[in-house]
Amino acid sequence: MDGEERKCKDFIPARWIFTVLGSVGFMVVYGLKVNLSVAIMAMVNHTAVALESSHGDDHHGDSHAVTDGLNATVVVDDCDTGGSKEEALMDGPFVWNENIQGVLLASYFYGYLLTQVAGGWVAEKFSAKHVFGVGALLNIVGTLLTPLAANISFMAMMALRVVMGIGGGVTLPAMHVLVARWAPPAERSKIASAVYAGMTLGTLFTMPFSGILASTLGWEFVFYVQGVLSILWYILWVIFVFDSPSQHPRITRTERQMIDNSIGGGSAITGPKPSVPWKAVWTSMPVWAIIVAHTCSNWGWYMLLVKLPTFMRYILKFDIKSNAGLSAVPFLCMWIFTMLFANLLDLLRAKNILSTTAARKISTSIASLPPAIFLILVTYVGCNTDLAVVFLTLGTMFLGGMYSGFLANHIDIAPAFAGTLMGITNTFATIPGIIVPSVVGIITHNNQTVEAWRLIFIITFVIFAIEFIFYNIFGSGELQEWAKPKPIESQNEHRLLEQAESKAA
Ligand SMILES: *[C@@H]1O[C@H](CO)[C@@H](O)[C@H](O)[C@H]1NC(C)=O
Repeated sequence: MDGEERKCKDFIPARWIFTVLGSVGFMVVYGLKVNLSVAIMAMVNHTAVALESSHGDDHHGDSHAVTDGLNATVVVDDCDTGGSKEEALMDGPFVWNENIQGVLLASYFYGYLLTQVAGGWVAEKFSAKHVFGVGALLNIVGTLLTPLAANISFMAMMALRVVMGIGGGVTLPAMHVLVARWAPPAERSKIASAVYAGMTLGTLFTMPFSGILASTLGWEFVFYVQGVLSILWYILWVIFVFDSPSQHPRITRTERQMIDNSIGGGSAITGPKPSVPWKAVWTSMPVWAIIVAHTCSNWGWYMLLVKLPTFMRYILKFDIKSNAGLSAVPFLCMWIFTMLFANLLDLLRAKNILSTTAARKISTSIASLPPAIFLILVTYVGCNTDLAVVFLTLGTMFLGGMYSGFLANHIDIAPAFAGTLMGITNTFATIPGIIVPSVVGIITHNNQTVEAWRLIFIITFVIFAIEFIFYNIFGSGELQEWAKPKPIESQNEHRLLEQAESKAA
């Protein structure tokens, strides 16, 4: 054993290479998803849009003072710090009003919804590596083509975003299949968190990076530069990532055996694939616990992702520049917390202090109750904006518990169907992404007040509370009866042989 270990020290373990490239993969997918929301500010001819709306319908002119725009007029405030200066926006070439901008930003989600379940299923049956790769590649090519499509027409641009969403939709379920094959249970919280937290990192880096590119080189370069950089990742992904340890040509034998032995039937990837027991899936309460937790949690997640900058601007009165940096701080804290917390959980599980079920429930509780409470507190700090930022940061940070909570849970209860299950739960969980912007829009329309936001955060509190209660009652970390692999005998024999062999060596 010692001799073998020394030899292996020359290599980075294959599962860590997978973890890093998987995380960067999500940075790519998320980066290319959110960069439009920054770039679009530089693509629109704001002067022409404002002219158009004042000509078009004079008596409805007010309705165009949309909450996200820079031209909102109705801001009721008790404590104006005088910090919010209007900055002149550079005009771009496109006369897209707020409705069109909204449709463009939403069209990604329509494609994204379509391919969740199919993506998971295909990834389980064929190559999860290539399903993820091709999904990401669609986003990369779509990004590089975005300036062209925008110049052709609004419809071309919309179609392109739907296609990008279709590509993005398969990535989460496909990655779940890979994590199920690569992460030994003792490291599952850690690996799953590291991989999925790439989404947070992608958001974190893309927002300021897109802003800098747009203001220095021009809006086209947001897409060209990020697209080209993403190609580099794709090349590394194709070369260094494999569908399972047993298909990896360069993995050490120690590592392959360690992973295969810890994951039941891990080496059976080449065998016949079981078909999904749909009835058992839909009647399984642990599955519903994940669906409810994932959907409720995404409500809060999209609220913070999409609406935090709006809240900081109108209620906390930060100007745009400090706002861009500040709204990244909570996500940075979230990422750090995610990694530390996942390591702690794996440690406790390794020492048998926590069961898998307990670990998932604790994580999901941490990702639901504290964020709910801190969001409410934010609306009671009055003019103390520093305290508000602290509360917002804490709320966002604890949300990071989701990665080692319900988001890693599909693999525990049904490793063979992890992709399909992720597709199912993420289909439900994408709905808040579509609903949240409209709900916030309706409540704060011409009414950017603390009271309006308190109502929004109270709704969010209730939704988080539902997640907390439902998941703690019905969640499970145990392998479900319907998900147990059937032809287990031959695999076990094979595994025992290998174990004996490695002991002898
Ligand atoms: C924006 O629109 C205004 C008014 O239609 C026009 O004068 C201006 O040239 C446009 N700017 C750009 C960059 O297209």
